[in-house]
Amino acid sequence: MTQEIIVTGAAGFIGSHLVKFLLNNHFSVIGIDNFSDYYSKKIKKFNLSPFLKSERFKFFEFDLSKPGLEKNIRKADIIIHLAAQPGVRGSWGDSFNIYVKDNILALQKLLEWSVQNKIDKFIFASSSSVYGDTDTLPMDENKSIPVPVSPYGSTKLMGENLCRIYHQNFSLEYYCLRFFSVYGPAQRPDMAFSKLFRAALTGTEFNLFGDGKQTRDFTYIDDIIHGISRTLDLKEKNTVYLILAAGPEFQ
Ligand SMILES: NC(=O)c1ccc[n+]([C@@H]2O[C@H](COP(=O)([O-])OP(=O)(O)OC[C@H]3O[C@@H](n4cnc5c(N)ncnc54)[C@H](O)[C@@H]3O)[C@@H](O)[C@H]2O)c1
Repeated sequence: MTQEIIVTGAAGFIGSHLVKFLLNNHFSVIGIDNFSDYYSKKIKKFNLSPFLKSERFKFFEFDLSKPGLEKNIRKADIIIHLAAQPGVRGSWGDSFNIYVKDNILALQKLLEWSVQNKIDKFIFASSSSVYGDTDTLPMDENKSIPVPVSPYGSTKLMGENLCRIYHQNFSLEYYCLRFFSVYGPAQRPDMAFSKLFRAALTGTEFNLFGDGKQTRDFTYIDDIIHGISRTLDLKEKNTVYLILAAGPEFQ
């Protein structure tokens, strides 16, 4: 039987690539997104438009932090939870309320729904931001201790803890996937590659943060999708994984 997968944040950057992959690989997909105003709703609708004709795709515009999910959706096999308020820089000050709403309250409601509806597997998009600053590189999910240094990172670590707690108390099976900065087509407009390309194409300036000598490791979107897809049939459950560029073990 075709597995039915809920993808939250389906209209976003990573979500729309994931929906494409799942539909191409014969899954049925239920997409959920509230078209949050972090960036243009037009871009999100454009991301989603290729899938709307597929018979194996259903879409619900819904804010997961609000009650009532059970009125729209009653069953699925797997949830891949990507919906969130992303962005480290914006998570300070008053906007932290949005991070609490979209990254913690929405997740907790979805975990409750997952337990009530006996979901087989819950896959949570965490972030390298849970690590904070570390001198020990590369980071290692078994050795590096998560010490976030941003409010955003702390909501993602809280998210990982909520997944673990719902597993310990209600046997919900979960994976937490720590993505490192992701790049590729449809990258969010607030991210570096989008900004740099936009500046190059329009001949405008971009804001340089720091002295420009910072180093960072980026992951291509196809590698992220490959990593997520591997968790669909992994046997070692209830684990935290880092997703990096596809190494030989993926080929
Ligand atoms: N892009 C990266 O480099 C990166 C790195 C680490 C972690 N992540 C995580 O991966 C996930 C996807 O990131 P992205 O870059 O695709 O972001 P994105 O903003 O493009 O996608 C997130 C989507 O979630 C939706 N959303 C937000 N709050 C919602 C709510 N309450 N109910 C329903 N939908 C809601 C938004 O409308 C948006 O379309 C996020 O959880 C993010 O924190 C991303």
